[in-house]
This record gives sequence, C-alpha cells and structure tokens, in this order.
Amino acid sequence: MNFAIIGCGFISIKHAETIKKISGSKIVAVCDKNPAAMKRYEIEFGATAYTNIEEMLASENIDIVNICTPSGSHANIAELAAFYGKHIIVEKPMALSLEDTDRILQATKTNNVKLAVVHPNRFRPAVMKLHEIMQEGHLGKISHALCVVNWNRGQHYYDQAPWRGTKEQDGGVLMNQAIHNLDLLLSFMGTPTEVFSMGATRLRDIEVEDVSTGVIRFESGALATVQASTTVYPQNYEESLTIFGEKGTVKIGGAHALYFETLEIENLTEKEIGQMISEVESDPWGTPGHERIIRDMIEAINEDKAPVISGEDGRNAVEIVLAFYESAEKNRLVKIKERGEPNDKNKSKTTKSYQAVRV
Ligand SMILES: NC(=O)c1ccc[n+]([C@@H]2O[C@H](COP(=O)([O-])OP(=O)(O)OC[C@H]3O[C@@H](n4cnc5c(N)ncnc54)[C@H](O)[C@@H]3O)[C@@H](O)[C@H]2O)c1
Repeated sequence: MNFAIIGCGFISIKHAETIKKISGSKIVAVCDKNPAAMKRYEIEFGATAYTNIEEMLASENIDIVNICTPSGSHANIAELAAFYGKHIIVEKPMALSLEDTDRILQATKTNNVKLAVVHPNRFRPAVMKLHEIMQEGHLGKISHALCVVNWNRGQHYYDQAPWRGTKEQDGGVLMNQAIHNLDLLLSFMGTPTEVFSMGATRLRDIEVEDVSTGVIRFESGALATVQASTTVYPQNYEESLTIFGEKGTVKIGGAHALYFETLEIENLTEKEIGQMISEVESDPWGTPGHERIIRDMIEAINEDKAPVISGEDGRNAVEIVLAFYESAEKNRLVKIKERGEPNDKNKSKTTKSYQAVRV
C-alpha cells in the first residue's frame, strides 16, 4: 500500500513509524504547509514532499491518505482525498461540526473509498477485555457509568501552535482529549438520548473549555457522568471509565485508563479475575492503537470490508461532544434524536446516527 501523510506534526510520526514497519507499505508522499516539518520524512522515509495537497493527490500513486492536520481542517482535506479516490484514515476528532462529519461521510460514499477514524484507545487490552466481559453479559443490567479525564495541559501546550485551544480548529478538553473516552463510553453504553452539561474556562488562556462536567442518559435507561479537565496540578491525575452493573463493577483507571483498578464480577471465579488482571498488567498498552487502525485499513481494502472504527463511530463521538457544548452554552437539556443516514433522508435507519436537538 502506498501512503501519504497530510500534516507532519506531533501525531504524524506515529502513523509514519507504523507504516514503515508494515511490509509492503510505504510512505510515498507527505504534505505540510510548513516545508521544514517534512524534512524528516524526506530523509528518513524517502517521501516526496509537497506543500499543495491537490498537487500531491494528482501526481502520486497513493492508496491511503492519513490526515494529521489540525482538527478543523479534516473535512476539506478528506473531501479532496475522496474526490481523488484515496482511502482515508483521519485523526480524531473526525471534524468539529456535524456538517463537516457528514461532508466526509458523503464524499467517501460518493467516491466509494473507505474511511477510518483514529480512536486508538479502543484497542487497549483492558478496554478489549471489558468488551468481552460485557458481551458475555457478566455485568448484567447496567445501572450507570463514570467517565473521568482529569489531565494537565499547561499553557505552553496551547501556545505550541496557533490552532490549539481555538473554537474553529481545535475545541476544548471534550473535543480534543475526552473525545477518546466519550467514544469508549458510547461503545460500552450504546445510544445516548439526552445530555446536560456545564463547561468553564478556568485556568488556561484559551477560547474553549478547560473543564467540563455533564450527564448522559442512554436509550437503555442507564446514566453516565462525565468529568473532563486539562487544569489539574501538576500533572495528569486520572483517566478512567467505571461501569456499574447489577452483577459486576469494573473500573479501568490510572493516569491513562490502562489497568483494572476494580474488577468485581459475580459470575467469575477469583482465578479467572486474577488472570484477566495479570494479562492486562503484563502488557497494558498492547499493540498501539494507531498500528491496529492502519493494519485494519489495509485489511479492509484487501478484503473489501468496512474498517473497524468507522466514519459513523467518528461522527457519534463528535455529536455527543457537540451536545455537551450546546447544553453548556444554552444551560439546558439537549436531546439526541435518532435519524436516518447523514445527508440521505431516503435511506432506512440502519446506521447509529443521531442529531442533537434542543428542547
Ligand atoms: N489519536 C490521537 O491520540 C491524537 C493525538 C494527538 C493529536 N491528534 C490529532 O491529530 C491532529 C494533529 O495534531 P498534532 O498534535 O499532530 O498537531 P501539530 O500542530 O503538531 O501538527 C499539525 C501539522 O499540520 C500542518 N498543517 C496545518 N494545516 C495544514 C494544511 N491545511 N495542510 C497541510 N498541513 C497543514 C502544520 O504545519 C503541522 O505541521 C489533530 O486533529 C489532533 O486532534 C490525535
């Protein structure tokens, strides 16, 4: 597979190093507004550098485009890549508005290209184990969940690049950091129906929230509380997800939601539980999520199947964040209403797509 990376900043190196180690794959081209950012890719990876995306797409033999630019630019770039018939791996958040997520979905559909959104936390060993536990019904009826991201991103983090901490290109702690955790929450709890939240900008000089708290009601009737911040002194404090069921309580926690801090399950023996805990502790990060997602895209193309983390998943995560924002801004409950496929009112309601509406 021939890859092209667009946006050669912090996260792009994870994509590049993964591509380099997959046999039969290579980075043929890179594109960045800033030529200096591409030097490493020219020297170390042998990629041809472009400052114009369209010129790159038109001239190079590319199968997959990895979009690693600031979040607000993902939609325009994805539309262009789809137009040129390239499969797309787009960094989270997929986009910053539902108009933009739906433009991406429409463009990939029209041009018959595959789309994957990078939510790498889905592949953490503890997270995958919890999915197995829940799929086997070990927790029974779910009562509620607690999703916490209490992290530290100092002012220097926001000052690294002009797009950080802006409404147009980034979003706040929910859209940038906690979207990973909201994506996980949805994957465990199902369809959300209502959100109430409050947000604030307490300690950082940014346009967006650095603290947010909210509650979600799910279609099942279960509730979740979400608490996210980048203001914690002096360093990342907690990233955790706790699920409370009638027959079990599971908390995946630590500073980076990697370990089972609580694993109490009525139907499992102490030995089975001990085994799960030690399996996770022996390799808490597992195969990096970026690698899983890139390998999955190659498999999806070769076998003509859908990538594991779909555009609809990316859209659902953006939608819940936007519902939080709308609720905080209007200081009222926001209902999330099920509807048909984005931008395609004639299709049946087969996708998990929702539209935030105010009540
Ligand atoms: N999945 C994850 O765990 C994860 C982690 C970090 C960042 N991200 C996401 O990756 C994206 C990039 O984040 P980053 O931290 O690498 O940012 P960054 O600022 O380090 O890098 C962005 C790069 O894109 C370039 N760029 C900006 N606009 C461009 C355009 N229109 N065309 C071409 N190049 C352009 C910039 O010059 C810069 O080199 C964001 O959407 C972010 O949310 C995801």
